[in-house]
Amino acid sequence: MVPPKANEDVLIAEAHAKINLHLEVLGIRDDGFHELAMVMQSINLSDQLRMIKNEDNNITLKTNTNEISNGEDNLIIKAARLLRNKVGNTQLGVDIELVKNIPIGAGLAGGSADAAATLVGLNKLWNLNLEISELEKLSKEIGSDIPFCVSGGRQICFGRGEILERLNLDHFDLGLILVKDPSIQVSTPVAYKKYKEEFGNRYLENDRDFEIKRNIVRSINWSDQSLLDNRKEVQNDLQKVVCPMTPEVEKSLNILSRLPDSRLVSMSGSGPSCFALFENYNQANKVLKEHVNEFERAGLSAWACSMKSNGVQLRNEFT
Ligand code: C5P
Repeated sequence: MVPPKANEDVLIAEAHAKINLHLEVLGIRDDGFHELAMVMQSINLSDQLRMIKNEDNNITLKTNTNEISNGEDNLIIKAARLLRNKVGNTQLGVDIELVKNIPIGAGLAGGSADAAATLVGLNKLWNLNLEISELEKLSKEIGSDIPFCVSGGRQICFGRGEILERLNLDHFDLGLILVKDPSIQVSTPVAYKKYKEEFGNRYLENDRDFEIKRNIVRSINWSDQSLLDNRKEVQNDLQKVVCPMTPEVEKSLNILSRLPDSRLVSMSGSGPSCFALFENYNQANKVLKEHVNEFERAGLSAWACSMKSNGVQLRNEFT
């Protein structure tokens, strides 16, 4: 009989999705990526990763969905290998079981959140004691949104999305209704390519101009109250190209805009998920319940969510 695992050999990492409260494309960089100015926010929609230390040096992944690969191209495996290489110990092994709740290809950074959870979880499970800042730095090698997902909360993100500036805010009480048409996904590279084709001629070209834009974003008040005031500065540039080519996004935005008490309606990331902000979770949940039939008729999955002040949360199996 296989002996039960000791408590310290099993860990659950909760990987939180994010929404973009703001996404501005500033220009194109020498490495071909876009230079961005964003504000990202973690929400309480999450995947769970159960991590079990193993002694046979393997990194394995099982998932509860066949919509994603559990091979070497999965960001979870990439993150685990990256961390193992970083500390130079190929003896480290783990079996990971992923319960996927964050919709895939939705603009909610589900894959990035899983990679972030893998790094934070394995840092603990393998007793590596790396600083969170080191994990953020390492993670940008495999994806632009992963550094944000490591620490999460509400942060300004520059560069490809990997340069983080934490906002000096101590509570996030807003609620939101998030919707997504389950029949579609949007490819992030396609959204950026399309944006470049349409708006590339307006791109800023040097870092001095980027910095002027960054200072504008830094100067905006990103507090809950200010967001509820539906500020005009808040925007998602990718919405300008994804909305016209994706009727499901237009439909989502229309439904959300008509909801009572909804403020600031926007697409998240490269879409197709969209959200409406509310004063708090209870209000969002009440409005969701009252309109559940409308979402169903429109073929939209819908969630009421709250904001989180961190990206990854670790717990023991039975707590
Ligand atoms: O880094 P990540 O894997 O999230 O990026 C996916 C794709 O999105 C990139 O390959 C690129 O085509 C596009 N992208 C971009 N500029 C960014 C982030 C992503 O052009 N800042």
